[in-house]
Amino acid sequence: MSSQPLANDRFLRALRRQPVDRTPVWLMRQAGRYLPEYRATRAQAGSFLNLAKNPELACEVTLQPLRRFPLDAAILFSDILTVPDAMGLGLYFADGEGPKFERPIRSAADIDKLGVPDMETDLRYVMDAVRTIRRELNGSVPLIGFSGSPWTIACYMVEGGGSDNYSKVKSLALNDPAAMHKLLGVVTDAVIAYLKAQYAAGAQALQVFDTWGGVLSPSMYREFSLRYLQRIAAELPRGGGETRAPLILFGKGNDPYLDELAASGAEAVGVDWTIGLGDAARRIAGRTALQGNLDPVTLYASPEAIRREVGRALEDYRTGNGGSREGHVFNLGHGLSPDMSPEHVGALVAAVHELSAR
Ligand code: CP3
Repeated sequence: MSSQPLANDRFLRALRRQPVDRTPVWLMRQAGRYLPEYRATRAQAGSFLNLAKNPELACEVTLQPLRRFPLDAAILFSDILTVPDAMGLGLYFADGEGPKFERPIRSAADIDKLGVPDMETDLRYVMDAVRTIRRELNGSVPLIGFSGSPWTIACYMVEGGGSDNYSKVKSLALNDPAAMHKLLGVVTDAVIAYLKAQYAAGAQALQVFDTWGGVLSPSMYREFSLRYLQRIAAELPRGGGETRAPLILFGKGNDPYLDELAASGAEAVGVDWTIGLGDAARRIAGRTALQGNLDPVTLYASPEAIRREVGRALEDYRTGNGGSREGHVFNLGHGLSPDMSPEHVGALVAAVHELSAR
């Protein structure tokens, strides 16, 4: 992929802790059901999976939030469960119930059968979407590719869908740690291949979503989640600058592990709203950039309250980062919800840019 200069490279500069004119902002789930134009394209596709598997339509919904708001990055429209789907588990969405697998992992024998999918055949639709989006973005803002973390993907593979207490996957880890490590090993191989392929197809930054790492005890987190995040950070090609897409490790409930995450070799750590950005910045101590972390529920409040909370988060980061705004990527602490108001999202984005202007 040619390295055409970007019209807006604030996001990539902030990930490298370089000076920027304003703090960059993008939002997890910025493409989605809170936008009426997303709902219209999804209706045209017939289902979420048809939408994600059609590169032209996936490109269309990726660009929709950028037409409304001056966001500083685009994120590939896809899902973390495309990888286990390509491993043969049969992803489907039962109406109103979230993701499910037809053939979840039920035994060590199921794990033995798993292999790393081929990125340019089994997951070709994802790579085609990346290439299409890069072409259509035409150098305006960078494109973020992503994957789930091995632990978070494994949660869905073993539970067969979402879960309240993760009893099946935690039981597997406790009863048969060798089998659990075998599962996490093959998923990690697939995640690394998937992220490399997205980079080769044109993704300019990569985010790993460890949405469910925070449900583990500290000892289990270190054994079953962190270890594999560290492997990803170590094995994605190094070299800095143009030869490696900056890697963001996002996790819900990851604040006890900020020190280890900052030492992992990733370029940035993403945090949820249960830690103050000042505290997080002090603990990271300039080793990586920091992404976050407004409580998404703030978007239900008034535009005035949203602006005040954005200002608070920006100042908190600056104070904790030794008086400098560098190295901060503004985001929510988790994704947008379908009933949030696009006008309030617009107020948030404007507040980040206005209140952080240097
Ligand atoms: O952020 C973006 O705009 C990019 C697109 C994106 C989606 N899923 C689209 C999507 C990303 C980055 C994801 C990641 C993802 N998917 C995660 C990790 C991030 C997180 O939110 O914690 C997880 C755990 C999943 C698994 C998943 N996919 C769930 C739990 C659901 C159901 C969500 C719901 O609210 O119904 C999905 C489906 C999904 N993925 C939707 C979208 C926009 C909703 C699909 C629809 O009905 O139109």
